[in-house]
Amino acid sequence: MAEALKAGVLISGGGSNLQALIDAAAKPDYPARIAAVIANRSGAGGLTRARKAGIPTEIVDHTDYPSRAAFDSALQEALERYGVEIVCLAGFNRILTPGFVGSWEGRMLNIHPALLPRHGGKGMYGIHVHRAVLEAGDAESGASVHLVTAGCDEGPVILQRKIPVLPEDTPDTLAARVLEQEHIAYPEALAVMAARLRLS
Ligand code: GRF
Repeated sequence: MAEALKAGVLISGGGSNLQALIDAAAKPDYPARIAAVIANRSGAGGLTRARKAGIPTEIVDHTDYPSRAAFDSALQEALERYGVEIVCLAGFNRILTPGFVGSWEGRMLNIHPALLPRHGGKGMYGIHVHRAVLEAGDAESGASVHLVTAGCDEGPVILQRKIPVLPEDTPDTLAARVLEQEHIAYPEALAVMAARLRLS
């Protein structure tokens, strides 16, 4: 069997999606393994999840760098140090430079808590997304995993998981039910991409 693809996960926060990836990658037949978890904030809760799982962690704090380009070079250097072959953004709250995005073309994934192309783009994150779904009166929402390209939330979708929007939904209840779908969608999408890349 081909070796598992080395994934690097970038986080800024609690890392529940990271946890879903850690759990999936613990299965012997999963086609990827997590080689490193990198956070841009030392307080990111996901760092504890990674440490518990015995995964190497790094903090690359964006406030230590004079420019986005300098921050992105430090990220790149860390990813290379761990031999990362595919990058997963999992609640990572920094916009990446076109140079960085270009160097990971076809090998960087993001998860978004809506059915892209609906409710994506700048300013569409966290609770704002779920509020927008309710305000639009959408019948469905869900999770999308997509390849990262220069346009925010615009890259090709790898897979989506849908749920109905319920009449009694608030942004918080919708967020919680979408998050459950994210935790299924991200490991599935990483497996799809890892299988594709291992064959290519
Ligand atoms: C998720 O809702 C994800 O879609 C978004 O940020 C959130 C991260 O949550 N990009 P967690 O840190 O994985 O718990």
